[in-house]
Parts: sequence; structure tokens; C-alpha cells
Amino acid sequence: MKPFLFRNGAVHPFGIPLSHSWAAVGAILMAIQEYKIRTFIELGFEHGGLASIMAVRSRLLLFAYVGVDTNPRTDSDVHELMADSSLAHFVFGDVFSVDIIDYVKRQLVFSNYPKMIYCDNGDKPKELRTYAPLLSPGDLIGAHDLDHEYTYDDIKDIPDLERIEAEWLEDTRIVLFRKV
Ligand SMILES: C[S@@+](CC[C@H](N)C(=O)[O-])C[C@H]1O[C@@H](n2cnc3c(N)ncnc32)[C@H](O)[C@@H]1O
Repeated sequence: MKPFLFRNGAVHPFGIPLSHSWAAVGAILMAIQEYKIRTFIELGFEHGGLASIMAVRSRLLLFAYVGVDTNPRTDSDVHELMADSSLAHFVFGDVFSVDIIDYVKRQLVFSNYPKMIYCDNGDKPKELRTYAPLLSPGDLIGAHDLDHEYTYDDIKDIPDLERIEAEWLEDTRIVLFRKV
């Protein structure tokens, strides 16, 4: 069995479940740190565990978070955290609908700082293909569940993306790209 840091499952950084390993949570935070991300968009937030981290970050720093989900399973704790931050919010809808794609496009033009889209719904290759074209050079796009739900071969032809290979991504299920 994998050491607990690398085991995928429910972890609760702020008491709200998050469906990643601790190493994957660390990798997402490292991507934000290393690439100076100021806007983080999560496609599929479910219980809101990752949203809870981003909501706290957005209260402390100039940092915006948007979570999108069709059918979330959030409880009041995460809604309270989100309500305390004017730069963090949830949107309800299908990530492949024109309305949500347009909404995300509008969020991306608000700032000239680097942005990151994180794909974690039911069809990650389709999310990567749909959302990568919206990004500007220097922005990041990542997805969970590489080699579990899809392989690198399924996504390596997406134009204008350069794969990020970093020590902190090792032993996670995250694939991360930088838009060139
Ligand atoms: C694996 S969970 C997300 C886990 C969350 N990112 C985390 O780190 O804890 C997947 C979520 O994607 C949502 N989802 C699936 N298909 C979707 C779609 N087409 N549009 C929006 N959300 C979708 C589901 O409702 C579910 O809550």
C-alpha cells in the first residue's frame, strides 16, 4: 500500500472533505506558489475541500477562486467560508455548457496575473480540451486522475501546452501544463 501522504482519498485540511492525496494538495499549492497564480478556477468542487483552502487564501492575499459544479455536495461550513471572502465564489452549472464557458472566459479577463484552471469533473480530457484555448501564455491548466481515468496519450496533442515536470508532482495523479 502507498504511504499515506500519497494515498488518494478524503483529506480534510479545514474540516471539509477533499478528494485528493495530501501530496496532491501540496502539489496544487506548489503550482500556485511557483507560478504566482492569482486566479484559481476549479471545475468540479464537490464537497468544497479545495475551495475551503482557496477561500482562506483569498481572504489573506490578492487571490480569486471560482468553483463550478453541477451537483455539489457542500455543507454550510464551506458556504460560510466562501461568504467571508469577496474574491471566492461558487457557480452552479455544467462545465461544458456555453453559459459556464462564457462565465469562465469573463473571469479570466479580469486580471493580467497568471491564472490556473484545475479540471476535476467526470471527463478531464474533455475539460482540458475545452478550457485550454481560453488561457493566455503563462497560465496553467491541470487535471486530476492521470493514469486512472485517462492516459497522457489521450491529451498530449492539445495545442500550445507545455507539460510541467516537477518533483512535487511525482507520486500524484496530477498532470499539469503551462500555456505557451
Ligand atoms: C471528483 S469530484 C471533485 C472533487 C473536488 N475537486 C475535490 O478536490 O475534492 C467531481 C465533481 O464534478 C462534478 N461534475 C461532474 N460532471 C460535471 C459537469 N459536466 N459540470 C460540472 N460539474 C461536474 C460532480 O458533481 C462532482 O461534484
